[in-house]
Amino acid sequence: MIATEGAARKLGGILKDRVQKAMSDGAPASAASTCAGVAQEITADVARVTGVAVGRASVRLRNPKNAPPAWVDAWLRHHEGAPAAEVSLDRWIVDTPEGAVARVILPIAVEPLCVTCHGPLEGIDAGVREVLAARYPGDAATGYAVGDLRGALWAERAVEP
Ligand code: HEC
Repeated sequence: MIATEGAARKLGGILKDRVQKAMSDGAPASAASTCAGVAQEITADVARVTGVAVGRASVRLRNPKNAPPAWVDAWLRHHEGAPAAEVSLDRWIVDTPEGAVARVILPIAVEPLCVTCHGPLEGIDAGVREVLAARYPGDAATGYAVGDLRGALWAERAVEP
């Protein structure tokens, strides 16, 4: 697999496993705390281990630290509102002033599990809402339904000359 895609899939896989495990281990509120506590560190670890710049982004952000680079932002805005099933992976090789870079974007779909913390606010457990309000005062990542496009995993690295 191409390095950028591998890194993006690795990040997505680790985060999903982690949230699934946290949800089966305890209350959704403690799973939300776990996610809030580890997501940024996991992202930094995957970037370090793979040597690929990698992240998770959305038009409607929970954590402003997940704000997309401009090229990811453009892609997200282009696909905003489309059902996730109609959006597919994209990859490019782009010339930049620093040299050629390989980029990949993978759509992220909302699954039943995700609605616990990203669904309509009124349906979210009070304990989860408390954690979210405390950790993410500007949280825009609720109101999603199963099948929506939640955002994207992205990765970028220099192309070896
Ligand atoms: C237990 C609660 C919980 C569940 C379940 C959950 N998330 Fe999240 N999600 C969070 C938290 C907390 C963050 C912010 C993490 C951070 O600080 O980077 C987040 C952030 C994200 C982001 C990064 C963009 C942003 O808004 O900051 C994406 C994309 C995302 N979640 C997708 C999903 C998907 C897809 C699922 C289902 C497979 C899911 N989440 C399930 C709590 C949850």
